[in-house]
Amino acid sequence: METNIIEDKQYPLQGTGVLTPPSGGGGAVGSSIQVFAPATVANVVCGFDVLGFAVNEPGDEVIMRRTNKAGITISKITGDDGRLPLNPAKNTVSVSVQHYLQSIGRTDIGLDIELHKKMPIGSGLGSSSASTVAGLFAIKTLMGDDTDASTLLPFAMKGEEMACGHGHADNVAPALMGGFVLIRSYEPLDVVRLPHPANLWCAIVFPDVDVPTREARQIIRNKIQMKDAVTQWGNIAGLVSGLFMQDIDLIGRSMKDVLVEPVRSMLIPDFYVMRELAMEMGAVSFGISGSGPSVFAFTRDEDTAKRITAKLQQHLTSIKIGSNAYVSTINDKGPRVIG
Ligand code: HSE
Repeated sequence: METNIIEDKQYPLQGTGVLTPPSGGGGAVGSSIQVFAPATVANVVCGFDVLGFAVNEPGDEVIMRRTNKAGITISKITGDDGRLPLNPAKNTVSVSVQHYLQSIGRTDIGLDIELHKKMPIGSGLGSSSASTVAGLFAIKTLMGDDTDASTLLPFAMKGEEMACGHGHADNVAPALMGGFVLIRSYEPLDVVRLPHPANLWCAIVFPDVDVPTREARQIIRNKIQMKDAVTQWGNIAGLVSGLFMQDIDLIGRSMKDVLVEPVRSMLIPDFYVMRELAMEMGAVSFGISGSGPSVFAFTRDEDTAKRITAKLQQHLTSIKIGSNAYVSTINDKGPRVIG
C-alpha cells in the first residue's frame, strides 16, 4: 500500500485509485499564479465528517509568486479583518504549502503568498479549507505537477488540523476535487466522488455570529445510542442512494441528523424557525453547513433557493442579526486558475 507521510501522521492511500503520490515538479515551473478555491458544505446533515460538496460561490483567492530567497513569506491578507496570521509558520496556507514542498524535496524554493479572503471566517463554509486548497493548487500548478488534485488531500488535512485541532477531510476533499465527496475511510484515507442530480440547488445563509469549528466540535457527545446510530447510518445510506438514483425525494427524507444537529443547533440563532420557513417554502432539506453557523437548504430550482435565502435573511434582520446569502448549484470543478 502507498503511504504519504507528513510529519508524524501517516495517511495511507487506498481504494478509488484517484489518490496517487504527487510526482512534484515534473513539468515546467511557473513564476506567478492566481487561484480560486470554493467554499464547501460539510457533513450534509447526516454525514458528520464523511460527506461534503463544493459550491460555486463564495470562495478564496491566493496569488503566489516565486522569489529568489528560499522559504515562504505572506505579504498580504485581505478580507480577514486582521484575524489571520501573516507569520508563515502559523498560517494554514503557508504551512500546508511547506509540507507539500518538503514531500517533493523542494524546500529550496522561494515563494510569496497573498491571500484574499472572499468569504467569512468561522462561517461553517470551509473558509480555512478554501484558502489552503487555493494555496496548494497554486504551488502544484507552479511546480508543473500534473498529478490529480486529490493527491494534495493529506497536505490540506494538515491545514485543517492546524485550523481547528482535527484533520477532517469533508471540507478540503470537495474543495480540492469538486463535486460531492464521501470520505469512506480516514485510516487508510479513501475518498469517493459521488454523482448528484444536476438540478440540485443550494441556498446558503450565514447568520453573522461566530461559531469556531474547534469549539463546535468540543460540544458533540462522544458516546451515542445504538438506536441513534441505526437511524443515522440508514439516513447516510439513503442520501448516497438518492444521489446515485437522482431521487431528490429520497435525498430530502434522508437528510436528518439525530447525533450532531440537536446539540449544535443551539449555537445558531432561530435554527428551527429558519428550518420551518425553508421547508414551508419548498426546500427539499435543511440543515447546518459544516459546524455552523451557516445553514443551507437543497432546492429543485434556483428561484426557490433565492426566495428561501431572502426569507431567511429577512427573518435574521428581524431578530437583529446580519447575514450573507449565496445561491449555487454544486461545483464539480473545485479549484481553478484565474490569473
Ligand atoms: N465535519 C466538520 C465538523 C466540518 O462538523 O466539525 C467543519 O466545517
